Order: sequence, then structure tokens, then C-alpha cells
Amino acid sequence: MINVMQPTLGQEELNRIKEVFDSNWIGKGNLVTEFEKAYAAHIGSTTDRVLSTNCCSEGLFSSMHLCDIQPGDEVIVPTISFVGAGNAVCANRSKMVLCDVDQRTLNARARDIEKVITSKTKAILLLHYGGIPCDMDSIMTLANAYNLKVIEDCAAGVCSTYKGKALGTFGDIGMWSFDAMKILVCGDGAILHFKNPELREKADKWLYFGLEAKSGYENSVAQKWWEFDISCFGHRAIMNNVTAAMALEQLKKLPMFMEKRAVVHEMYNKGLESLAWLDLPLSMEENCNSSYYFYHIQTKNGKRDELARYLRERGIYTTYRYFPLHRVPYYGIGGDFPNADYVADNTLCLPIHQSLSSEDVERVIDTIKEFGKKYC
Ligand SMILES: Cc1ncc(COP(=O)(O)O)c(C=O)c1O
Repeated sequence: MINVMQPTLGQEELNRIKEVFDSNWIGKGNLVTEFEKAYAAHIGSTTDRVLSTNCCSEGLFSSMHLCDIQPGDEVIVPTISFVGAGNAVCANRSKMVLCDVDQRTLNARARDIEKVITSKTKAILLLHYGGIPCDMDSIMTLANAYNLKVIEDCAAGVCSTYKGKALGTFGDIGMWSFDAMKILVCGDGAILHFKNPELREKADKWLYFGLEAKSGYENSVAQKWWEFDISCFGHRAIMNNVTAAMALEQLKKLPMFMEKRAVVHEMYNKGLESLAWLDLPLSMEENCNSSYYFYHIQTKNGKRDELARYLRERGIYTTYRYFPLHRVPYYGIGGDFPNADYVADNTLCLPIHQSLSSEDVERVIDTIKEFGKKYC
């Protein structure tokens, strides 16, 4: 089976993990700090704005508290979003207000967002679909005009930039995921970015019980180092030296990952461009970069499901991300989102990862063409 996503891990990660074992400290420690520092440099930011956590979903949930979003406040979420974004808003007892998206990029545009702004809107929880940048100039102008917080979910945008600046560094909070299905993987882990370093300080406490003073060895002040106080009912959501060891080695490999993914992306572009029944991803705007996380095609003839089955029967696994939140019954939102409905019924994400050989990619292309000849 050709997988749709797949990590690339090797001896380098194993060697680094062995060092952690040998150190006899597998908890949060020096490697987590080193990873935060390296990631801050990777996104062109500074360590006083960057903080790691155990997963990006934690970042979504915590962003509600960190941005001081109250029960009853409205948060705008594109309906094509990760379920964790919807859950984060609803678990906070805030009102999730959905907006439609662009049919081709699957990203919300400023005009989609503006349509649903009310006097109760406090924030936009934006998704950069598959790490493809939203139009941040117009969205930030809109957010500033209405005094809205912006939370950027760039879970998959580990190398994505908008006009030369890393995605995730535009809004109040940005976040990237390093779970098992991402590009940079470490089992589970995430980085949060804060525009304001004070918010990073707040998050640092929130993600560790709200502890005011560190206990144990790190506490050099108190006579009785087991005593403490808290400033909020915080969580415990941290990376550790094992996950950070993997993440550090993966970070070094990112340029190579991007090169390989770009080649696969280009092969699909060239191999599929002649198929009139398909729309391919749009090319990037100047000075913007994708991370090539998804390669999403769109059927123009309503045959997406048949195509997915045809490919799977021939050993090629594909998927569609993300099932629109207005169609999730438990949210009870519903509504009219014509572009998102089109997207959800016609989009298919093809296999793309570092370990795909050109023979694999050609096989995917040939099988899609074969389907086209038979049925389109
Ligand atoms: C868009 C998006 N946001 C957030 C997440 C959550 O990431 P994590 O698995 O690190 O919690 C995912 C995971 O698939 C995602 O795709």
C-alpha cells in the first residue's frame, strides 16, 4: 500500500534518544530548551516568544484561556477546520461561528470572515490549510479594524511562509504540530508562538499547573523547596527530552524533506495537468511558501469517492481533510457553506511524503489517468 502520509525517521533520531537514556533524565530538560531555541531561529523569531507543548490540540484548547476568551464570546472558525479547533471553542463554552472558505485553497478569506463578525466576536481561529498560507495582509487588516485576536493553526505549515515571514508569527498565537502524521515528527509535540512575550510567560505557567515557583532542583530560592503557589488552574502539557531529541534531529532534516516533497508536488503537477476533469492545487503567490503537506486534487465531475475507492483497491491510499464542522452533528451548527460543501465532496489528498519513490508517484498518476479513461 502506498501511504498517504509517512514519517522519515532514522539512526540520527535513535542516537539522540540513546543519549537521553544515558543521561538518566527523560523528562522536560535541556533538549526541550534546545529545541525551542532552534525552532525560534527556524521561524525567524526569538526564544521569549516560543514555547513547546505536548501537542497542537493543547495549543488550540489553551489559546482560549490565553487570549482571555470568555463563555459566550464568539470565535470565528473556518468550517474546513480540524475538529480540535471546534472542540477548543465549544469546550470553553464560547460560541463557534463558522465561515466559508475559498473553493480552491480551502482557506478562509477576509471577506468570508467579515460576513460573520458581530459585536460579540473576540477572535478568529484561522487554519492555514495544509500549510498553504491564508492571505494574511487582508486578514490582519480586518482583525485590527475589529480589534480581534488572531490564532493561527499552522499545524502542517512547518516551513510555510507568507511574503517571506513564517506562518504562525502573524497572529497573537501561532502553532505547529509534530505528531506522527506531520512532516517534522516526534511522536507528539508542538510549538506555540506568541507575538507578545508576556503572553508566552502566561502560557508557560498555564501549561505547567500555573505554578509560580519551580520545585525541586530548579528552586534555588525557597528554604522549603516543596512549597509552592499557583496563579491559575493550569494544565500539564509539556514536551520531554525524548520527544525533543527526535524533534531536534528532524528539524535538521527539514530542508531535505522539503526538497523531496517539492519534487513529488511537481511530478503530480506535470503528470495530472492534462486531465480536464481535475483541478490541481493553485500555485503559490510570489514570496510565499507551502510546506507541501497535502497534494489536494478536486474532481470537477463529482467522482471523488469512486476515484478514492479505485485507488485504494489498487494499493494507493488517499484521504480527504478536513470534514467540515458544519456537518458534524454534535456541534449542531449546520448552515449554508456552498464552497465548503463543494470542497468536502470533491477534494482528495494524494500520497505525499519523503519516502515516496518516483515509481510510486508515477503509479499514482497512471492509476488516476486509468480511472479517468474508464469513467470520466
Ligand atoms: C490542522 C490541524 N490542527 C491541529 C492539529 C492537532 O495536532 P496534534 O495532533 O499535535 O494535537 C492537527 C492534527 O492533525 C491538524 O491537522
